[in-house]
Amino acid sequence: MSGAALTGWGAALPDKVVTNDDLAAYLDTSDQWIRERTGIRERHIGGTTTELAVDAARAALARAGLQPADIDLVVLSTTTPDQMVPGNSAEISARLGTAGGAMDVNAACAGFVYALVAAHGLLGRGIEKALVIGSDTLSRITDWDDRSTAVLFGDAAGAVVMEHTGGADQLLGWDLGVDGTARRFLYCDHGSTLYMEGREVFRRAVRAVVSSCEKTLQRAGVDGSQVALCVPHQANIRIIEAANERLGIPMDRTAIALDRTGNTSSASVPLALAEAADEGRVADGDLVLLCGFGAGMTWSSAVLRWGK
Ligand code: COA
Repeated sequence: MSGAALTGWGAALPDKVVTNDDLAAYLDTSDQWIRERTGIRERHIGGTTTELAVDAARAALARAGLQPADIDLVVLSTTTPDQMVPGNSAEISARLGTAGGAMDVNAACAGFVYALVAAHGLLGRGIEKALVIGSDTLSRITDWDDRSTAVLFGDAAGAVVMEHTGGADQLLGWDLGVDGTARRFLYCDHGSTLYMEGREVFRRAVRAVVSSCEKTLQRAGVDGSQVALCVPHQANIRIIEAANERLGIPMDRTAIALDRTGNTSSASVPLALAEAADEGRVADGDLVLLCGFGAGMTWSSAVLRWGK
């Protein structure tokens, strides 16, 4: 069976940088507390979900050597759409000038891998080239006076192009999951701001990431020691370290962006992947493990073989 390959990637961050010291200037917190408990030094704030998505998508299309009209499906992962109706992907498609369909996926911070797996399932079945975007502006639903959440989040977008190819399939295994009974630990009601029980989310996140990645690696017929690059959801360096230790994946084979971005929800995995790819940290044939978790609680993971 013919397969699919990831042929382009890109990311976008708003210009405005908010440092830990900027937050400590008005909140009862400190740069030291935030760095030690989360690994975050600063985050970018601003822009809209649409603007950031369009910028990241243009970069991914350029990298793939494609025009917007070559794209026949846009899948946008977001939990902060600019409007409730229509789906945010409609405006993104119009601004870019893509052909074919467009849809939104909301699986919170695990959403990008959900979107990637959904797009992959359609490649070769009527869709030839898909643009998969993760874009979120969590700053708009953050209570900037609540130190337990304000220090964690930032705004960004990341995007990839997936193409149907005649060659082997690059997506070797994946896992998607949700435990909707855990919704109460992390949520945002209409017109409100994010509520989170951090300790509970932390505990469940490590467990979910480890078990999801183990399933995905097993389905792909590989183990953690064969992973050349792990691209985890960028929420907290301690969550990443705890999960990696259990999976047997060293930190020097892990993409980290959170120190400069904070938790950017749907954007975090494609942004960290784009940075690592631009830095030449993946070569053709390498195994790349993507994983995420988020409100829901949702989780997701996928193993890709890099290169066409
Ligand atoms: N600055 C200083 N102190 C803070 C603080 C801040 N920004 N935020 C919380 N604290 C305080 C708490 O009030 C608490 O004080 P107390 O002991 O007097 O009650 C103390 O620090 C410890 O709080 P706790 O929540 O146990 O800290 P923690 O080590 O669990 O770290 C998080 C808090 C939020 C960083 C951590 O739980 C976390 O990252 N959870 C997962 C969050 C996440 O990933 N969310 C997104 C999912 S997609």
